[in-house]
Amino acid sequence: MPVPPSEPLASAILDLAAFPPSFAWGTATAAYQIEGAVAEDGRAPSIWDTFSHVPGAVDNGDNGDTACDHYHRWPEDISLMKELGTDAYRMSVAWPRIVPGGDGPVNAAGLDFYDRLVDGLLDAGITPSVTLYHWDLPQALQDRVQDSHGGWTERATAEHLAAYASVVAERLGDRVTQWATLNEPLCSGWIGHLEGRMAPGFTDLTAAVRASYHLLLGHGLATQAIRAVAPGAQVGLVTNHSTVAAASDRPEDLAAAVRMDGHTNRWWLDPVYGRGFPADMRELYGVELPEQPGDLDVMAAPLDWHGLNYYFPVTVADDPHGPIPRAREVHLPDVPRTGMDWQIDAGGLEALLLRLTEDYGVRKLYVTENGSAFPDATGLDGSVHDPDRTRYLEQHLAACTNAVRKGVPLAGYYAWSLLDNFEWAYGYDKRFGLVHVDYTTQKRTVKTSGRRYAEIINAHRQTVTDR
Ligand code: IFM
Repeated sequence: MPVPPSEPLASAILDLAAFPPSFAWGTATAAYQIEGAVAEDGRAPSIWDTFSHVPGAVDNGDNGDTACDHYHRWPEDISLMKELGTDAYRMSVAWPRIVPGGDGPVNAAGLDFYDRLVDGLLDAGITPSVTLYHWDLPQALQDRVQDSHGGWTERATAEHLAAYASVVAERLGDRVTQWATLNEPLCSGWIGHLEGRMAPGFTDLTAAVRASYHLLLGHGLATQAIRAVAPGAQVGLVTNHSTVAAASDRPEDLAAAVRMDGHTNRWWLDPVYGRGFPADMRELYGVELPEQPGDLDVMAAPLDWHGLNYYFPVTVADDPHGPIPRAREVHLPDVPRTGMDWQIDAGGLEALLLRLTEDYGVRKLYVTENGSAFPDATGLDGSVHDPDRTRYLEQHLAACTNAVRKGVPLAGYYAWSLLDNFEWAYGYDKRFGLVHVDYTTQKRTVKTSGRRYAEIINAHRQTVTDR
């Protein structure tokens, strides 16, 4: 159901004084979603190049070949960040640009690109936050089948991630302080290997569980590798979560909610915070973990910060014969939804920030992604008025201020996304940007939501001056 048009909340009613003076105001993107230039300067194909060219895998047959052409237009995109008043930018580095074969020779031209980009950001007063893996695994590693199905199902891939991390941190670590190892391992693990809706497109529980294990192992090994070459590095992990509600008070539905919570949240957090993999989920999956002594300690290396990506809550009912985790998502009627059909509930963001703080003991948090897709209409004058996205942004920032007032150590917020971009299996139809992209001309237009974000950032800075 489309969200009814509504007046945006006035930024004045946001409790911006709750945020610390140093609060980072950012936008986020990912390499494959914006860069294009997939065959330039020595870049090799990733699993997403392969997947997006499989007929029927992506809506409209879209792919990331050109995307937002950010590889060539990055100076303009930095200017847009400045226009929004942001002082932070979360970007990812494309592994297949740096180590095209997955392991082995390093591609100097790939490193040079990110070197220029980082310098450009710093010159503009924007602090880069660099994610090393946002789903674009070199295809060569997917093709290297050793013990299992290639790619993340193999232990060696975790080791290759660490070697690649070391190369990037060695080159950029004199200027980049904030590093994330992985973005949303849940999507790589479950959506890519169990549901088949993302690269590499498998539907195999054993492969998915193995991949999830090696992703978290890779996270731990990459954390060590970054710290070894860049001693001042602040290393974190970015995970995506949803609050999970039971569709009813029936014991079966309550149990289904526990399973979905395990699948979506605990499986990805417990090992990182020293609790190991949840026993109830191990039993449910019934797959032997590819464990070796010491792995759990590697996965649980203390982090400098945690990044939460939040978009929507879920409600589930028992589904004893359905797919793992045997919990069926219930589509609630009459609730506001985005153009992705995702329920809008800013309270979920507050709840998850509190859970990470109180239950997992996280001491520094960022909202590393949050945003909404809507079918934007471009006016005759070329302007893009997007009240629904503006409202979503304000509601979620209000949730952040509430969380901070309750003691959450929130250090920044990165809106997803700076630009409309390649939304994976949904192609280019789903637009998340604060800045509209005309994919025919590559013209960028700041939307009303982008202007409002700039106002909010400015208003926060005013509260700092007034303090
Ligand atoms: O576009 C994605 C991003 O790559 C990862 N987090 C969710 C976003 C919206 O679906």
